[in-house]
Amino acid sequence: MTTNASSIPSEGTFNVGDHSSSGAFLLGQNLPLVDPALWKRRHAIDSASFTAQEVQIVLQTARSFGHILSRPIKKVPTLRGKVVVNMFYENSTRTSTSFALAAQYLSADLINFNVSTSSVKKGESLIDTAETLAAMGTDAVVIRHSSSGVCQQLANYFGDRLCILNAGDGYHDHPTQGLLDLLTIQSRLPEISGKKVVIVGDILHSRVARSNIYLLKLFGANVHVVAPATLLPVDIERLGCTAHTKIEEALDGADVVMCLRMQLERQSSGLIPAMSEYTRFYCITKERLKRHCQPNVLLMHPGPMNRGIEIASDVADDLALSLITNQVTNGVAIRMALLYLCLSTPTERSVLLRFQGDSV
Ligand code: NCD
Repeated sequence: MTTNASSIPSEGTFNVGDHSSSGAFLLGQNLPLVDPALWKRRHAIDSASFTAQEVQIVLQTARSFGHILSRPIKKVPTLRGKVVVNMFYENSTRTSTSFALAAQYLSADLINFNVSTSSVKKGESLIDTAETLAAMGTDAVVIRHSSSGVCQQLANYFGDRLCILNAGDGYHDHPTQGLLDLLTIQSRLPEISGKKVVIVGDILHSRVARSNIYLLKLFGANVHVVAPATLLPVDIERLGCTAHTKIEEALDGADVVMCLRMQLERQSSGLIPAMSEYTRFYCITKERLKRHCQPNVLLMHPGPMNRGIEIASDVADDLALSLITNQVTNGVAIRMALLYLCLSTPTERSVLLRFQGDSV
């Protein structure tokens, strides 16, 4: 780690993805970018490998891109001539669409690779598929896959030839979700250090939980996780969080509550006796938030939500406490930032900075 990780400089007020009371979005100011030479990565794979300085560069770049989202014409020429391929081997709405929009807002050419109609169905391997795409001039592959570690495997194989962006691999990691969550929290709580963040739900199957634990710990947050014992990995505390099975204990004094989806598609039989029991003991309701958390507690959910199972509808829809839509908007800005940083060289970034008014 190369910088003091205790706080993220917030540089004035930024509100990427923040809802104003009028319903309009207040988006980020056109802030100066940090020194582009400091960014050396070609890939974004593993939250745990990010330094605090790298995270700061991503957040600051995302904030500076935020204003593009509020323009009538949401397009800048920053990545003109670059080719991005979205490869989603698992279902997705938010992550796949926001990567696609991020690439298009930056003028990259985008292919949404359709796994179900591709030669993957004829047995072609992932590396052969990616090699085929690289041979056609692809610069970046955004990949979501059910197997943990595939992104690293691709990065090891391709090195600098292809930029690999992890859009969620198995139970392992979902770095762009962790980064967009950090950006969202910081828009309301500029000083994250010492804040209590509670992650509630299906921790066992959640790559989102792992990404968030790593990134929040990097900035000094006090991270707690809570779930029925069967949905808590036995060694989860080794990541630096505190584990609970009682929701009341976990929520006590919480500044932020992050609710996770019950991953019904990944539940092997017997992990929880009945969904109704999960809801009874762990569902995030207004009553639970009010009784146990800080009065101005913030609520998050990466989506998609199972309303009435892990989260009550009136909580999800209460804009005074719910940041769920802000998370979605911030996801576009974070993905623009990562595409820009990983796909351009420091020299290209320096040139763009000189034309910053229009280019970034
Ligand atoms: C998450 C995912 O796919 O890991 N969703 C997302 O990317 N917004 C969480 C989930 O599916 O529950």
